[in-house]
Amino acid sequence: MGIMVSRTASLLCLLLLSFVALARAEPHQTRNASNIKNDDATGFGSACALIGKAISNASALSYPLSVQYFSDIAHWASSSTELSACSVEPGTPQDVGSILRILGQTRTPFAVKGGGHSTILGFSSTSGVQISMNRFNSVTVDNATSTVAIGAGLLWDDVYRALDGTGLNVVGGRVPGVGVAGLTLGGGEPLSIQSIGIFWYNHGSEGYSWKTNQFGLAIDNVDSYEMVLPDGRIKVVRPEDEDLWFGLRGGFNNFGIVTKFVLKAHHQGNVWGGFVIFSSQQFDKINTAIVKFQQVQDKKASIIPTYNAFSGSPSLVLLMFYDGPGRPEGIFDDFLAIPNIQSTVRSGSFLEVFSIFPSTNTFGGTRAYFSSVPVLQYSSALLNVIVNETLFWGAKLAQLDLGTIASYDIEPFDAGLFTHSPASQPSAYPPDRSRALFPTNLYFGWTNPAFDGEVANALRESTRMVRNAAVADGQDVQTAAVYGNYALFGTPIEDVYRNNVPRLKEIRQRVDPENVMTLAGGFKF
Ligand SMILES: *[C@@H]1O[C@H](CO)[C@@H](O)[C@H](O)[C@H]1NC(C)=O
Ligand SMILES: *[C@@H]1O[C@H](CO)[C@@H](O)[C@H](O)[C@H]1NC(C)=O
Ligand SMILES: *[C@@H]1O[C@H](CO)[C@@H](O)[C@H](O)[C@H]1NC(C)=O
Ligand SMILES: *[C@@H]1O[C@H](CO)[C@@H](O)[C@H](O)[C@H]1NC(C)=O
Repeated sequence: MGIMVSRTASLLCLLLLSFVALARAEPHQTRNASNIKNDDATGFGSACALIGKAISNASALSYPLSVQYFSDIAHWASSSTELSACSVEPGTPQDVGSILRILGQTRTPFAVKGGGHSTILGFSSTSGVQISMNRFNSVTVDNATSTVAIGAGLLWDDVYRALDGTGLNVVGGRVPGVGVAGLTLGGGEPLSIQSIGIFWYNHGSEGYSWKTNQFGLAIDNVDSYEMVLPDGRIKVVRPEDEDLWFGLRGGFNNFGIVTKFVLKAHHQGNVWGGFVIFSSQQFDKINTAIVKFQQVQDKKASIIPTYNAFSGSPSLVLLMFYDGPGRPEGIFDDFLAIPNIQSTVRSGSFLEVFSIFPSTNTFGGTRAYFSSVPVLQYSSALLNVIVNETLFWGAKLAQLDLGTIASYDIEPFDAGLFTHSPASQPSAYPPDRSRALFPTNLYFGWTNPAFDGEVANALRESTRMVRNAAVADGQDVQTAAVYGNYALFGTPIEDVYRNNVPRLKEIRQRVDPENVMTLAGGFKF
């Protein structure tokens, strides 16, 4: 499938581009550092030195210009990367504890990076101390409890590779390149996919999975968390810890640093799926097929159609997945009958089919923002507006910069999507489980940091148009909760967590009275 650039090559690109981009871009995003105090400019450096002395030999500290440093600060979107004072890869929860204590005592800003897929500057990047979780990289199956323990530094790719051949699987990311931690702490799953000629771009979603129709969000399939609390103590969190259990399920990094996710294992047999690319001449036929697909009752079937305009040139990538050994009769026939440019569908192991989905790669240079419009359904009228937005903004962005992309993911799920968690176990996200919301990912990509502001405004404008179209459709979504993993920077926490905000604030205050985790960016309670 097209051309894949290795992570090493991306890293080299990043080395060059990051200095250029970072030197030029004064981030206009809101990194709320108003509560951060630091005595002097060298304060970050002294925290680095203290950390270097405190950690065991299972962990490693690095400084700018080392290979480890650049890999530690690298993000999927170059617009999410910052040059930190130093980076540290903790190798044990005890060392995470030592690091947090030093950061809290010295009031040093920091960031925690799992997979590095965030599209918000400052959420997993910092000018202070960058923590990279990549040494938490083990996958351990426990047959007795039917669970899988997964290190917080892994990508879903690593997890599926480790589980291949075991007959077991977990509810995780839908496309290659997405990290375990961000997806699982945010709720479900982030994702978007774009074809750009022979290259592919995409990104992860949070809690939503190919298996979500059957089993719910990723957060609904957690058995326990191993985490380091803001005061440095290690804790295993289970449903009995009602407050943390509620907060960790969708609440990102407000309560400490998760080092291990123990997920429920599900039986996994062979599957069918792949992606198909269509030209824009087929948009009408595809729209009709998408509307009809939403009547499908079989929870093993799932699709993600993505409208893309790369440098103004439109196309559609359709991902299809069926959690059974062959193509089921009827369900995908309408899509398969439409003439396509390329098709990769096949039967195989979960890993085989997952691996042919377009992989996450921005070649270290592309800037990216996501946004989200939660909807109740994709009607023909709504899809027409989304097609127009793709063409309109695709053309606009193409006038602005080279190598731009305007991309809209349609994410229909089963109506019972949010019913897979006991009523006694509410979660930070989604704040309302009484009805299904489909998260719809909007993604704009570009290369020149000078256009950051313009692209953000364009994405805001398009988000408003799509939401208005859903409302005009009769959908009551004006104040529907936005999926945190897709949210545009500057999205107020109320838009993501709604009525849960007061409880989340109260828990945060109790768990972190010294305000250690507020030294890290993110949606802060
Ligand atoms: C940053 O924090 C200050 C003080 O808490 C608040 O007034 C301001 O609105 C915040 N800015 C953003 C963008 O959240
Ligand atoms: C790390 O330290 C432990 C004990 O502190 C020691 O047993 C081990 O050999 C060390 N490992 C390396 C690679 O130096
Ligand atoms: C777990 O179960 C699988 C499949 O039944 C088996 O192949 C594997 O050896 C088991 N592992 C352990 C540690 O018992
Ligand atoms: C297409 O989208 C643009 C930008 O949102 C809007 O100005 C225009 O009116 C739309 N055209 C149609 C036919 O809806």
